[in-house]
Amino acid sequence: MTATHAFWLAGREATGDATFDVTNSYDGRLVGKVSVPTDAQVEEAVAAAYAVRDEFAATPAHVRAKALNHVADRLTERTEEIAQLISAENGKPIKWARGEVGRAVSVFRFAAEEARRFNGGEAQRLDTDAGGTGRLALTRRIPHGVVLGIAPFNFPLNLSAHKVAPAIAVGAPIILKPAPATPISSLILGELLAETDLPAGSWSVLTVPNDRMPALVQDERLPVISFTGSGPVGYAIMDSVPRKHCTLELGGNGAAVVLGDWASEEDLDWAATRIATFSNYQGGQSCISVQRVIADASVYERLLPKIVAAVEAQVTGDPADDATDVGPLVSEDAAKRVESWVDEAVAAGASLLAGGKREGATYAPTVLADVPADVTISCEEVFGPVLTVKKVDGEAEAFAAVNDSKYGLQAGVFTHDLQTAFRAHRALEVGGVVIGDVPSYRADQMPYGGAKQSGVGREGVRYAMDDYTYERVLVLTGLAL
Ligand code: SIN
Repeated sequence: MTATHAFWLAGREATGDATFDVTNSYDGRLVGKVSVPTDAQVEEAVAAAYAVRDEFAATPAHVRAKALNHVADRLTERTEEIAQLISAENGKPIKWARGEVGRAVSVFRFAAEEARRFNGGEAQRLDTDAGGTGRLALTRRIPHGVVLGIAPFNFPLNLSAHKVAPAIAVGAPIILKPAPATPISSLILGELLAETDLPAGSWSVLTVPNDRMPALVQDERLPVISFTGSGPVGYAIMDSVPRKHCTLELGGNGAAVVLGDWASEEDLDWAATRIATFSNYQGGQSCISVQRVIADASVYERLLPKIVAAVEAQVTGDPADDATDVGPLVSEDAAKRVESWVDEAVAAGASLLAGGKREGATYAPTVLADVPADVTISCEEVFGPVLTVKKVDGEAEAFAAVNDSKYGLQAGVFTHDLQTAFRAHRALEVGGVVIGDVPSYRADQMPYGGAKQSGVGREGVRYAMDDYTYERVLVLTGLAL
């Protein structure tokens, strides 16, 4: 019999009066049943988080760091089991799922370390003017209050970790709402947090259905919302609560630029391999997967066949198989949407150089060239294993092509030239520029977030800690400075 997974209400396991099914999109099998909290249980969790906020903010750093390290240790011990679970509920190939658990371990470790050194504090002398004689300002960062974290399906463990770990590190209670397609990996975090001594109420993992989220979003006891997901949903949340502190990690259509100085066979082989791998990892379901390749005319003809060959070499199949590079998308509907966008581009004149086929929820790794600028796949985030290739003339045209997008999350620039790297950093309207690699590179301690319609605010452990807190100044008077 399939297990029913409880949710976590103010630090303890609980079940509601309904369940929903979580299925594997590759073979349709039932992965687990998940219990849904009632309205009264949601209220209980919110009330407990609100009530404990002062006590939690005052918890000694070593207590919070110990709890965070405990979660990191237990994730390490249970890596294989949790990776299997992520792969089963998300459809992510097992090798990428293992990588995700490893990253979540790092997030909790970074958060433990940051908790020990975080105070945001600075001492500022105020006797710079006569009125400030004998005065000193001390600044400390104070949590805004309870965080509502809304996690996506594409990294169900690690992007939940990016919401939970910084909250604990600053002493802000958190209510985590997992994605309905992939709640079980987020619920595992609850299991591990329940083994710690964090105060009851300081964390909950509530499997609230999306249609009941507006009430939680509106709740004034939850002043911070940290959302990762689609632009329309993120902006609808922010617009509905303009006075709340919202962090939105939204979409992207990551560009990899290959410039004329990246021209040796070795250079182009590396670029092609990285582009093929990171346009297809997790079926392209990452906000920083490579969607657009922008190549200088001087290398384009040699690069293109290498990219096509590397994309065709991607092994598509069962996500549970160690050899699989590309598994299914999160659902058959998602794969049908990708199929319709590729079909639209081809009907409008794009050349299909690889892929272009769907089998159930799996879409074959696909390469398109000569794609008209006005088709959907040129303008929107595909969130699937598809890349478009464009030829440009020189650096300025390449950078303009990157910026010709409503999104601005990360960009990769293949160049050896330091001056070009600095010009790219200045010119590209994105949250991060990666030199010598694809836009998909993310280290979990780095600031991560978008420009333009890719979002508002930054994650990355310490940056989220800043985001969850505000500066409060203490002015001391009558001092012998
Ligand atoms: C995302 O899809 O925004 C997250 C990418 C990552 O953490 O690697």
